[in-house]
This record gives sequence, C-alpha cells and structure tokens, in this order.
Amino acid sequence: MSYSKQNKTGVELNRLYEEDSPVHDWYRFVLSYPPHLVRNYLVDFGLNKSHTVLDPFSGTGTTLVECKKLGINSIGIEANQIAHLASKVKTNWSINEDKLLELSKTIAEEAEHILQNYNAEYKTLTEDQGKLIINNSISQIPLHKTLVLLEIIMKYKDNELTDHLLISLAKQIVFSYSNLKFGPEVGVSRVKKTDADVVGLWFEQIKTMVRDIKQFKGMSAVKSEVILGDARNINTLIQNESVDAIITSPPYPNEKDYSRTTRLESVILGFIKDKSDLRRNKERLLRSNTRNVYVSDNDEIWIENNILVRDLSREIENKRIELGKTSGFEKYYHRVVELYFGGIAKHLESMKPILRPGARLAYVVGDQASYFRIHIKTGEIIADIASTLGYKVDRIDLFRTRLSTVTKDNLREEVVILTWMG
Ligand SMILES: C[S@@+](CC[C@H](N)C(=O)[O-])C[C@H]1O[C@@H](n2cnc3c(N)ncnc32)[C@H](O)[C@@H]1O
Repeated sequence: MSYSKQNKTGVELNRLYEEDSPVHDWYRFVLSYPPHLVRNYLVDFGLNKSHTVLDPFSGTGTTLVECKKLGINSIGIEANQIAHLASKVKTNWSINEDKLLELSKTIAEEAEHILQNYNAEYKTLTEDQGKLIINNSISQIPLHKTLVLLEIIMKYKDNELTDHLLISLAKQIVFSYSNLKFGPEVGVSRVKKTDADVVGLWFEQIKTMVRDIKQFKGMSAVKSEVILGDARNINTLIQNESVDAIITSPPYPNEKDYSRTTRLESVILGFIKDKSDLRRNKERLLRSNTRNVYVSDNDEIWIENNILVRDLSREIENKRIELGKTSGFEKYYHRVVELYFGGIAKHLESMKPILRPGARLAYVVGDQASYFRIHIKTGEIIADIASTLGYKVDRIDLFRTRLSTVTKDNLREEVVILTWMG
C-alpha cells in the first residue's frame, strides 16, 4: 500500500525550540515535540473552542498546553506517573498564584535555615531507592539538599499547590541538580555537579511558573483533564463519541526506555519506591523496548494477520540467527516489534467508540533502525494497521529527518494523518 507523503509542515517545524515556551518549560521530556507542530495540526484540522482534542500518550503535555492556550478543551492519557503529574500541573492555571509564591517563599526560607544549621549526616535515599536509579545520577550534596527541601514541601502539604511545588522540584532535579545528560538516551556526565543552589533554583522555577500563570490566567477555565492510564484500554477511560481530534506521539520501537529517562525524579519524589512499583509502572506502557517485555504479554494477537509486521519480525529474527547473536535481549527484538505494533493496533481499536464520526487524527512517529540495523518504517506500518481497522488514511507528512547513530542513514519522522468516518 502507498500513501502520498508531503512535507507541508516539515521544514518550518525543524525550528524546534527556537520559540519561547511559557508553561512548556515547567517540565518536559528532552524529546517532546515542539508546540509549533501541535498548532499546525489544530489549524489544519479546523479545530476551535467547540471541539475536544485527545492526546492518548500525553507525556509532558505539549498538546494539552497548546490547546488550552487557544481555548480548546483537551484530554490526556499518560501511563508514567511523573509525566502524568507534569501534564496535570501544566494545565492547571486556576490556582492562586500569589499564594503559591508566598508558600514557596516560606518553604525556601525554612529550607535554607535548616541547611545552614545542619550538622547531622547527609540525607540520602533508602537502599531500595538507590538500586533503582542510575549510578551517580546525582551527587551527595545536591541530593541531601533536595531531600531537605522535599521534606519541607511535604510538611506544608496543601491540596491546591503541592503538585506545582513538586513539578518545579522534578524539573530542577533533572536539569539543574543531577549529573544526567540526554543524548537521546539518558546517561551520566563525566563532569559531576558536586553542589547546586537547590533551594534558590527551585524558587526561581516557581517564579517562572507564577509569571506564566499570570500571563494565561484568562484561559484557566478551559477544560483539560489528564488521566493516569493505559491508552490500549482507552474506551474504558473516556466517554463514547466525545473526541473530535487526536494529536499525539506514541513511543517508537527503538529500545528507548521512558521509565529510565524519568527514573531519578520518580524515585526521589516517591512515585517508585521499589522494583514492584517499577514493574507496575512499566506494565502500563506500550511495549517498545526489550526491557519492558513480560512473559504474559500478548498484544501480538492484534496484528496476527498483518503481513508488514510479520515480514519485519521474521527479517529481524533471521538476521539475529545469521549474525549468531544469542543474548536474551537480542532474542526478544522480533517480539518487541510484534508487541509494539500489536499494542498500537489494540489502542486504535479501543479508540473507535470514543471518537466522533469525522474525527481527525495525527500520529507523530519515527522510522527506526535499532534492531540489527533493519529499517522499521513505523509510519507506513501504522498507516497500514489503521487502514485495516477501518480508519481512512489521508496522508503521511514528513515532520523531520534524523541521522541514525547506528546506520548513518537519515530516518524519517512522520505524521500519519487519519480520519475516523464512524
Ligand atoms: C513520545 S512520548 C510523548 C511526548 C509528548 N508528546 C510530549 O510532548 O511530552 C510518549 C509517551 O507515551 C507514554 N506511554 C507509553 N505507553 C503508554 C500507554 N500504554 N498509555 C499511555 N501512555 C503511554 C510514555 O510514558 C511517554 O510519556
């Protein structure tokens, strides 16, 4: 099957983060798509204040924030707890921002006082927590200061404001206090941050938040709901025929472990306390890498008859055998691909009842070459699956190309545009 490919949006969108990003910067994945891309499709789909947009893989909330700024109602589904919290906080502009500033000032003063007079052992993570994070993710002193600040935030627990305080801390843990670097996998820098102005930088982040809320206060009543859940069971989470459009970016089949990308802040803030918490979190995720495949997984049943996926899976497994690769991970490569596209099929199927007839959908996805360099045409395969499930495939836009670190080829990131006719 072939579809027209256009780069109507591609060139312009490569400007990525050049634009000023109020609210988006409160906390976001390094690889989230740019606000600009969402705006283009909101216009392209002719959406306005009477419509509801859904992002079933909302991540750090780019789609939801853009919708809210433009007065369009939105719903997000997200399986990762810290990203869910980020999406929720980033779309809650109805808090009293003066109270937020006042409370933060009290907390900051108290934290500084404690830190200046501290003469006991440095605070640290529990043994279980320590095992969950990447070694040397954060140095001893920044961690100690973070834990002191966190304790005081929790002491002043306030139902309306605490989530905002925590997301500011999460952002600064990753980008200002930790030794993490993203490129695009998460790793640890050679040069370690032995100290950081933890309280001061957190308070600066709160001030940014307060400024942004003041700027967009007029839109605070626009509805935005974010649900912690699994997009493969979306029909159990959202009302029937309530959604006019989807703008989203699911994970790609590329060995990238989203739970690792957000591990440090998830552990420090207490979302993941031990291995069983981690597993519960991972089980909600679409299978997109060998580190979140489980024996009981069976999403492949959703693509049993899909020739493209079957051929791709065989090609990967044959290549493994040809190369004599025998590690546990490598043996799972072909299975990840089946589970990934099976999960996408299950998700697309579960969306049918909640979409209004005529709903438009935009799926941003990237081609990959992580499994023995075999080219996975993610966009084309998703278009094929969608078409089999009864969606109309309108076109595939080129969003941008990325140089593969493995093959040195240019890999396409595309936007699959669909219509649900009902
Ligand atoms: C590519 S990211 C989305 C980034 C987002 N567009 C943004 O701007 O931040 C994909 C997201 O899907 C989430 N996810 C993975 N599997 C999921 C599932 N089954 N249900 C809901 N969310 C899921 C991941 O946790 C991740 O946050």
